Amino acid sequence: MSLKFDFNNMFSSSVGAHGVSQQDIDKMLPEAQKAARHLKKIIADPDARVKLNLEWAKLPEQDKTVIDQIQKIGKEISRKFENVVFLGIGGSYLGLKAAQDALCLPYYNEFKNLRKKSPRVYFEGNNLDPDTLKTLLKNINPKKTFVVVISKSGETTETKAALMIVEAWLKSGVGAKYGRQILAITDPESGSLHKRVVAEQERDASSFRSFPLLKGVGGRFSEFNMGLLHLAIVGVNITELFKGAREMSAKCGQEDILKNPAYMYALLQVILYNQKAKSLAVLMPFSQSLKSTADWYVQLLAESIGKKCHRKIVVSPDGAEDWLNDKENLFAKGRTPISAAGTNDLHSIQQNNVEGENNKVVTFIRVENFKTDLKIPGAGDLLSGKSFSSLMHLAQEATEWALASENRPNCTIIMSEVSAYNWGALLFFFEMATAFEGELQNVNAFDQPGVEGYKNYMYYKLGKPGISQTIAEAIKNNPLVKNSEYIL
Ligand code: PA5
Repeated sequence: MSLKFDFNNMFSSSVGAHGVSQQDIDKMLPEAQKAARHLKKIIADPDARVKLNLEWAKLPEQDKTVIDQIQKIGKEISRKFENVVFLGIGGSYLGLKAAQDALCLPYYNEFKNLRKKSPRVYFEGNNLDPDTLKTLLKNINPKKTFVVVISKSGETTETKAALMIVEAWLKSGVGAKYGRQILAITDPESGSLHKRVVAEQERDASSFRSFPLLKGVGGRFSEFNMGLLHLAIVGVNITELFKGAREMSAKCGQEDILKNPAYMYALLQVILYNQKAKSLAVLMPFSQSLKSTADWYVQLLAESIGKKCHRKIVVSPDGAEDWLNDKENLFAKGRTPISAAGTNDLHSIQQNNVEGENNKVVTFIRVENFKTDLKIPGAGDLLSGKSFSSLMHLAQEATEWALASENRPNCTIIMSEVSAYNWGALLFFFEMATAFEGELQNVNAFDQPGVEGYKNYMYYKLGKPGISQTIAEAIKNNPLVKNSEYIL
C-alpha cells in the first residue's frame, strides 16, 4: 500500500489544547469500537448491505466478467468516436470528473498525443447554465459524438433537461438511429430513464444500451460502479484501481481502531468537531490533478454527514435493521467541507486557515512523485537548479508547519504517486471514513433528504403531477418574502 496517514498534527502534543489528547481517545474508544462492530456486521450481511445502502463497500470485489464487458464497450466507443459527452450531476458526475483529472494527463482534451487515441471527454448535465452546453454542441460534430447519460432516478432536472437537448441535437445531426449513440447508466428496475431504455431497446436493440447502477449503492459512493465506463473509455487500468481499493478495504477492516486509517481519521475529526468546535473540513491536495477529488469529497462529506436528524435504528424480530430519521432527536450538524488546492490556495484561503477563526481541520494530500518534473534553469537565484516537485514538497511541509505553529490541527495523506492503484485506495479510504463518521455521529450517512427541498419547490412551480399535498401546502403557505426595502 502506497498511502500513508500522518496524524501527528491532530494531537495536543503538536497543537496544544486545540488537538486531541490521549484521554480524549481513551474516552471515545469504547463507543468507537461499538461503532466499528456495527459497521462490520452490516457490511458482512448481503441483505443489510443492499437495504441500508452499504453495497459500495463490496464494489472493489466485483466480478471480472462485469469489468471485461465494460472494457469491451468502452474500447468500442473509444475507437469509433472523437467525443464523449457524459451527462450527470452530483454522485453521477463528481467521481468521473475526479477520475478524469487525477488519472488522465492535464490538457487531455487539448492535445491528441496525450489522449492516446481515446476521445475527448466533456461533462454536462451538471448545471442549468445554458452557455456551456450550447457552446459545446455548437462546436462538436454529432456524427462523431457518443453520449453517456448517468442518472439513477432519471428524474434529476439538470440531467434530464440536458438529455432532452442533446437528443434533439443528435437526432437532427445523425437521423432516426441516433439512439445508438446513447448509453444510459441507470437503475436496472425502476425510474423514468430505465423505462426509456426498455422502450428504446424494444424498438432497436442497439439503441440506448445500458449498464446498471447497482442496488444499495448511492450516487456519491458509486464511482467504482457508474464511473467504470468512463475509465474504460479514457484507458485507465480498472484492475489496478480495484486492487488499490481492495487493499485499502483490507486495511480499513482492521478491528484495532488505532491501526485503522479510515476509523482513526473519522475518530479524530469527530473529537475535534464535537469537543473543540472544528466545524470546517478543508481538503487541500498539493497536486492540481487531485483538486477535483477534493470536490468529490465535498459532496461525500456534506451529503453524508450534514443531517438534521439523528438515526433511529429499528430492529425487527429477525434481527434486520431499519434506519429511520428520528425527527424527535435532532442533530442539525455536520462538518462543512471545503475544497482547496496547494499551492494555489496558499495565496487565498490559507490566510484564514492560519490566522482566522481556529475552527478548521486541514487535511493535506502530499504526492511524493509527480508524473513529470521541471528543473529550474540558471544559477545564482534561490530557485536555480531546484525542481518543481521539491518546491511543492517544501511548500506542503511549510504549510503544515505554519498551521501547527499557530496550533491549527491538520493531517497529511501521503501518496507515492497519483496512480489508478493509489487513487482507488484513496477513494475507498474516504468512503469508509465517512461511513464510520456516520456511525460515530449516529446519522444515516447514505441518504440526502435535504436535497429534496429545492427539487420540491421547482417541481411545484413547474406543475409536476403527483406532488404531495403537504409539500404543496408548505410551499404555498410559506412563500419567499421579497421586501423591496431590502433590495437595493
Ligand atoms: O449521492 C447521491 O445519491 C446524489 O448526489 C445523486 O447522485 C444525485 O442527486 C443525482 O441523482 P441521479 O443519479 O438520480 O440523477
